[in-house]
Amino acid sequence: MAAPMLSLFLMTKPFKRILFTGAAGGLGKRLRPHLKQFADIVRLADLAEIGPAGPGEEVVQCDLADREAVMKMCEGVDAIVHFGGVSTEVEFDPIMQGNILGMVNLYEAVHKLGIRRVVFASSNHTMGMYKTTETVDASMPPRPDGYYGLSKVFGEQLSRFYWDRFGIETVCLRIGYCFPEPTTHRQLATWLSLDDLVQLLGRSLVTPRVGHTIAFGVSDNPGKWWDDRHSRFLAYKPKDSSIRFSEAVYASGVDRIDDMDDLTLKYQGGLFLHNGPKYKS
Ligand SMILES: NC(=O)c1ccc[n+]([C@@H]2O[C@H](COP(=O)([O-])OP(=O)(O)OC[C@H]3O[C@@H](n4cnc5c(N)ncnc54)[C@H](O)[C@@H]3O)[C@@H](O)[C@H]2O)c1
Repeated sequence: MAAPMLSLFLMTKPFKRILFTGAAGGLGKRLRPHLKQFADIVRLADLAEIGPAGPGEEVVQCDLADREAVMKMCEGVDAIVHFGGVSTEVEFDPIMQGNILGMVNLYEAVHKLGIRRVVFASSNHTMGMYKTTETVDASMPPRPDGYYGLSKVFGEQLSRFYWDRFGIETVCLRIGYCFPEPTTHRQLATWLSLDDLVQLLGRSLVTPRVGHTIAFGVSDNPGKWWDDRHSRFLAYKPKDSSIRFSEAVYASGVDRIDDMDDLTLKYQGGLFLHNGPKYKS
């Protein structure tokens, strides 16, 4: 593997082969064409069918919960962009398989195979129980809003353990709302454009010495809730802002930002608070 900075001068790609999990998913499909700039070969992996490999691609079908298959999936890669797993609030069992057992299997493989860098798609739902009136930074304690957020906190802590014990570097991206357009007030605060995600992902892959870093994946939106002071060294500079969508969102009357009795407006986790464990009535 060429050292990332050196590769800029040599005009080579930073990595020979990267693994991209979650390639059949929503973000997987949108990110796929952008990953080729980072490696000669991109190995696409998912539990679901991905379709045929294109030039410079390999395809692997793999359940993250299957330890042996995960080990095989990781063989021969220099870095991992880990976007696979359950991406919403559902019952615990699939989250356990994909996001908890899956993370353990992945990092065991990373450790055994000597892979040095992972970029992990964490989530803003690690912090979903902070109020929408609060500004959150990466040094504040996680306050997940459900099993999904809890599983992402597990992933963040697991990757911290592998950094502390074994020197494996991870950037955890607490992604906001990464879909083409924001359509609610919450999404105006949390929106991340695809271009900004690609930039953040690239910075997370090639910045030397990231150690264990938590970064917020959010565009330059007015009224955003997250402060990136602990990840500024990545030099991520968002180019997009949700401001161009705000008139349409306000005009749509989709939700009322002043109704603070509504849990989904009071807490940063938004609608996930309606889908979480039903312990409290
Ligand atoms: N889209 C967003 O705005 C957003 C926000 C925050 C975090 N994220 C995170 O980014 C990642 C991608 O999000 P997405 O919107 O593309 O989600 P998605 O659900 O569309 O894609 C996730 C992919 O993971 C695969 N997967 C699920 N369980 C698996 C398992 N056990 N083994 C292997 N693969 C498995 C699915 O088949 C799917 O293709 C997820 O980890 C998600 O939690 C996304």
